[in-house]
Amino acid sequence: MKPASKTAPRTFAVKSFGCQMNVYDGDRMSELMSAQGLTATDPDQADLIVLNTCHIRERATEKVYSDIGRIRKHAMARHGKNPMIAIAGCVAQAEGEEIVRRAKVDVVVGPQAYHNLPELIAKAARGESALDTGMPVEMKFGHLPARRRVPPSAFLTVQEGCDKFCTYCVVPYTRGAEVSRPWAHIVDEAKALVDAGAKEITLLGQNVNAWEGEDGSGASGGLDGLIRALDRIEGLKRIRYTTSHPNDMREGLIRAHAEVEKLMPFLHLPVQAGSDRILKAMNRSHTRDSYLRLLDRVRAARPDIALSGDFIVGFPGETEADFAETLSLVDSVAYAQAFSFKYSPRPGTPAADMAGQIPAEVMDERLQRLQAALNRDQEAFNAATVGRTCALLLERKGKLPGQLIGKSPWLQSVHLVSDAVVGDLVEVEIVSAGANSVAGVERVPVAA
Ligand code: 5AD
Ligand code: SF4
Repeated sequence: MKPASKTAPRTFAVKSFGCQMNVYDGDRMSELMSAQGLTATDPDQADLIVLNTCHIRERATEKVYSDIGRIRKHAMARHGKNPMIAIAGCVAQAEGEEIVRRAKVDVVVGPQAYHNLPELIAKAARGESALDTGMPVEMKFGHLPARRRVPPSAFLTVQEGCDKFCTYCVVPYTRGAEVSRPWAHIVDEAKALVDAGAKEITLLGQNVNAWEGEDGSGASGGLDGLIRALDRIEGLKRIRYTTSHPNDMREGLIRAHAEVEKLMPFLHLPVQAGSDRILKAMNRSHTRDSYLRLLDRVRAARPDIALSGDFIVGFPGETEADFAETLSLVDSVAYAQAFSFKYSPRPGTPAADMAGQIPAEVMDERLQRLQAALNRDQEAFNAATVGRTCALLLERKGKLPGQLIGKSPWLQSVHLVSDAVVGDLVEVEIVSAGANSVAGVERVPVAA
């Protein structure tokens, strides 16, 4: 059936779900539509709503369908008309035509094709079918407008896709193969971000530490070389990167943590599980021991580094003994923070068909125990930073008068009362610690 034509939208809203790469993509879609003359507004009032979706865990797809229903009902009640709806992100990539069939949305666009949004919106307005889930080798970034207004801490995607094929994960299917953006494009975008007000840049990639490319002189290198190039950008104060895979954590990058002052002492290095048997079934290609030895090397290079990770409980076949190994790994690492999830079978992935799927109540109970251990370590990490003096990048205003919230070098949320403004870097002493944040008091830096 041919979709009904709609008037071309004049206002839009983008709602992003899931990972930081989706947040970055959502921002770039907004910039693209603003450059086309559309005005950003509240989702309640927009002529066009882009749902930038996530497919990593279960119910994401069902949630998208119920969101679509809710948006339509709301818009009808408010102004009696249906907004144009575009589905972007990984659910768009995985579901494709099915979303148009089931929910009659106007546009479906995958994560590698969103530079074509203006064309797709125009097609939808003409009542034509507007679906693009292509994965062109040529990257979309060259077709996007320049960065103009950015927050003090900005994201910059440098690498996309994944070749690792962990048996539980949809990313290699929805985001495609590993591709690194070229050096010069990244350096140019980083400079544009700094000119637009960014003080900190977080380099993003599904496997960011697998980034490789040629530098300005034609020599090939890894993420550490790129970080050293960004280190030379005047006005840029801090560099971070996420997410990394243990197998791509090379010596040069570890050394960068010892040598590059702007590189923050924080590393998100997912391990997923503590048992070698489960790691093998997950196709993780590292062992518990190789992971722990890697962390020893990172800590030797940067003793104050804050460590973070991702965990999955209840992977098919996980016994109580396997899970106990996850808990003991957590005990020996003492993470500063971490994310933990119940295993969720994703259609089309090898693990979804494995024997030994774990009952929901067992997963719930294991997740609770794991999170109790992770929370304990996070609180202990925060408490151990009390008394430290560090630079704080102020990112937003707090709820109380005069309160500002920023990030410490170790990625803790720090709140303080100060006359400084968002975007300032201030010297603070951490004076008290809670489970999820710490409090700071401004210190006047002593002139050298
Ligand atoms: N079930 C549960 N968690 C998953 N993750 C990825 N796929 C799944 C899945 N099928 C988690 C991993 C990954 C994080 C981004 O999401 O821990 O590191
Ligand atoms: Fe998914 Fe594994 Fe790739 Fe991470 S490394 S994106 S978990 S397949």
